[in-house]
Amino acid sequence: MEALKISGGQRLKGSISASGSKNASLPILAATLLTGGKSRIYGVPRLRDIRMMLKILTALGAQVQWEDDCITVDSSGIVSCTAPYELVKEMRASICLLGPLLACFGKARISLPGGCVIGDRPVDIHLKGLEKLGVDFKLVEGYIEGETKRLAGASIFLGGNFGSSVLATANLLMAACFASGETIIEFAACEPEIVDLANFLNKMGAKISGAGSHLIRIKGVKKLKPADYRVIPDRIEAGTHLLAGAITAGDVEVRNCVPEHLFALLEKLVEAGAEIKKGKNKVSIKSGGKLKGVDIVTLPYPGFPTDLQAQFMSLMCLAEGTSVITEKIFPERFMHAAELKRLGADITLQEGTAIIRGRERLAGTRVMASDLRASAALVLAGLVADGETVVSRIYHLDRGYQDMEGKLNAVGAKITRINE
Ligand code: UD1
Repeated sequence: MEALKISGGQRLKGSISASGSKNASLPILAATLLTGGKSRIYGVPRLRDIRMMLKILTALGAQVQWEDDCITVDSSGIVSCTAPYELVKEMRASICLLGPLLACFGKARISLPGGCVIGDRPVDIHLKGLEKLGVDFKLVEGYIEGETKRLAGASIFLGGNFGSSVLATANLLMAACFASGETIIEFAACEPEIVDLANFLNKMGAKISGAGSHLIRIKGVKKLKPADYRVIPDRIEAGTHLLAGAITAGDVEVRNCVPEHLFALLEKLVEAGAEIKKGKNKVSIKSGGKLKGVDIVTLPYPGFPTDLQAQFMSLMCLAEGTSVITEKIFPERFMHAAELKRLGADITLQEGTAIIRGRERLAGTRVMASDLRASAALVLAGLVADGETVVSRIYHLDRGYQDMEGKLNAVGAKITRINE
């Protein structure tokens, strides 16, 4: 198994370019099924999750080609509506195939994604929304089987106990494109990845308005045509690199990012004492000395993203004073805390909250990645821990970061990929 060996103590200085957004690419690739033709998606990052999505599209009968950052999907030959367990268990986001399969073929069979380390992760909101459009679901041998004679527009309240759902909104958007009449989604997710999906669907001929707000309207159409599209930059990757700059008291510029997408993070970094400069498609961070502990609460966009919570915790482990991190999206998403403690961090967990008392230093040792963002948090901590940190199970990191060690090494980090 591969691991990353990090020699701590290097101050990062230089410019990093963020790749295209993973979380925008996944539903957009699923949406290419809606056209029965050949679409080209540009800016797609080279990641394990993207490869999984392509495997599933291929299993359904699509022809896919991946050259540089462009993926061509020809969905004219779809022969199956089943996304099998072997592939879905590797990537929960495959649930976003439900909407397009139902819209195109009136049926879909998708393995029910299991639990994962960041919690239970149910799919009830997806099913509730699609049922309103006229889909009947049953659970057969671990598979969600959906069927509909005809999708009909409806008014749907899509909220759940933890707020809006990103991929449920994506599923509804895609299915509603082919529903007769008008669909209104209330309490839709406002994430930039939803806006990107809506822009792609509109480019294919859909009639969607309001994406980016909590109320989205979709007028059904009979057909969509293939389109070429470039996905937005990855705001979580960009945020992670800015935090790498902050934690190493560095001077880092992140290019190919949309500063507005990072608003909540940038506010908190300024509050902590970092110097932030926003430019056109870039943000730079300078952090001369010790930062102050600040509190964060994760919330749906535009709130502080849960996908940056673990990385921010690493920063707080070395900040001055105490900080409180409250996780409102995935209350159990604190697997990284135990590993950060192995590096010497002082963290107390209490039902959805982490209390972090900043320490003078962390000391490198072996730690284990439990999930994608936890891996990134451990890499960030390794950048400043004394001596050597080895982060194992790095396949989690490869799900969501394209060449993280290469990008960090280019600005002064000392990271090598090793085989354990
Ligand atoms: C997406 C992102 C993920 C991010 C998350 C929250 C992708 C591929 N993944 O995941 O990186 O961490 O948004 O920003 O875009 N919920 C239910 N029932 C449902 C669906 C969700 O209760 O049917 C709950 C979840 O358990 C969670 C909350 O709603 O507490 C938000 O989850 P959701 O927005 O659906 O996450 P994903 O779309 O799966």
